[in-house]
Amino acid sequence: MGSLGVILMAAGLGKRMCSDLPKVLHPLGGVPLISYPLRVCRSLNPARVVVVVGHGAEQVKQACDNEKAIWVLQKEQLGTGHAVQCTRNILGRFSGDLLILSGDVPFITKDSLTALLRHHRDHESTVSLMTACLDHPSGYGRILRGANGEVMGIVEEKDASDSEKEINEVNAGIYVASPKFLYSALDDLTDLNRQGEYYLPDIVGIACRNGQSVGAVQVNDPREMLGINTREELAMMERAIQEKVNRRWMELGVTLKDPLTTYIEEGVQIGKDTVIGANTHLMGRTVVGERCLIDGNAYVTNSRFGKETHLRFSVVITDCEIGKKAEIGPFSHLRPGTVLKDNVRVGNFVEVKNSSIGNGTKASHLSYIGDSKLGKETNIGAGTITCNYDGFEKHRTTIGDRVQIGSNTQLVAPVVIGNDAYVGAGSTITQNVPAGALALSRVAQRHVKGWVQRFREKHKTE
Ligand code: UD1
Ligand code: CA
Repeated sequence: MGSLGVILMAAGLGKRMCSDLPKVLHPLGGVPLISYPLRVCRSLNPARVVVVVGHGAEQVKQACDNEKAIWVLQKEQLGTGHAVQCTRNILGRFSGDLLILSGDVPFITKDSLTALLRHHRDHESTVSLMTACLDHPSGYGRILRGANGEVMGIVEEKDASDSEKEINEVNAGIYVASPKFLYSALDDLTDLNRQGEYYLPDIVGIACRNGQSVGAVQVNDPREMLGINTREELAMMERAIQEKVNRRWMELGVTLKDPLTTYIEEGVQIGKDTVIGANTHLMGRTVVGERCLIDGNAYVTNSRFGKETHLRFSVVITDCEIGKKAEIGPFSHLRPGTVLKDNVRVGNFVEVKNSSIGNGTKASHLSYIGDSKLGKETNIGAGTITCNYDGFEKHRTTIGDRVQIGSNTQLVAPVVIGNDAYVGAGSTITQNVPAGALALSRVAQRHVKGWVQRFREKHKTE
């Protein structure tokens, strides 16, 4: 195959999205919409990729900052034809075919694009386009065919007559042409249409009128060419991605109790025989081991779990590393930098941040553990707080192995609790505790005999 240049049109605001965010930056499956056409175009190994940006140009460039693309600014969005005109300086003398893609058509596949390119080259067409037959074609440009089935042109929905609107073969917005034909046809475009725009699809009619050959390839699966113009379409695509990803995980041996409310992002890995309950979000680069159990209502981002870990109902976990057979929740919050070794138990209303917790250690109820290092087989009593912040700096708490921290203890950092130490319940610990010692800081208990009776009698006589 000859060399290939790609033009990706991504300058539009996406008026129908009613958004301040450029349409191509709306997230789909956890990544901006524009990553999809960029990815498929990379898979074709083109010699050049030119992206036309306009609305939010800087933002769009930033979102794709490791793309090897040439960015072209379309200052005013005068239509798709005008967008491609803006690439003339860069691609006018390109020797090879130019493939034009839309930034808002995410699911088009390498196979379909390859088929279009092959058809274009085999038939030596002047311009080729991809079409699809839709049950609900409204919104798309319609393909006009002549008596012998030859493509004559494209009419946009807004310019279409009632009978043209009946046509269900639509323009996918994906074209191949030589630079020579393309840029000369673009010179002939006008904006004499209902939208006052320079329409790229008009190059097809121009080719026909010049007696040049037009190739058309129908996409195998029309779902590939669906564009995103509204939030409703975005939600439908999100659902389609979710269904596809969920189906794949079920095929790989993961049980999803309620696939409709299970959201698994693309970069996630899950081991087999893991069971996932309703309303679970697994995001970013999360890795779940084999035979884990996620009860439900879990919001997990960029975290790793060893095998047979149990996330009980309702947990939020971000940027954490968790060993095997851990038990977390219900209602736990694990924040960035948390490392839990094997068999750790973190229970209800426990928050852990930037801390490591050794094998078999338990913090079962109502605690805050921040900037801490806990050894193994230690028990953190209910209501223990590491007081890590003095208003200016964060300080560290270190707790050894086999330590017992009594309930309602405050550990004022920086502080070190040695191995095998005990801290009495209700203590406020401000000094290091030696290994094996009992630390107690609470006021000694005293009893005032007969106090209650005297108190009650006093109130009776008042
Ligand atoms: C376009 C086609 C329509 C086709 C449909 C397929 C035109 C006139 N119509 O309609 O025939 O059925 O795609 O999805 O092309 N863009 C720019 N600069 C502009 C205008 C648009 O870069 O001045 C970009 C947009 O960011 C978008 C793409 O071009 O990524 C398509 O534009 P959009 O307005 O969505 O075109 P449609 O109305 O969907
Ligand atoms: Ca569109």
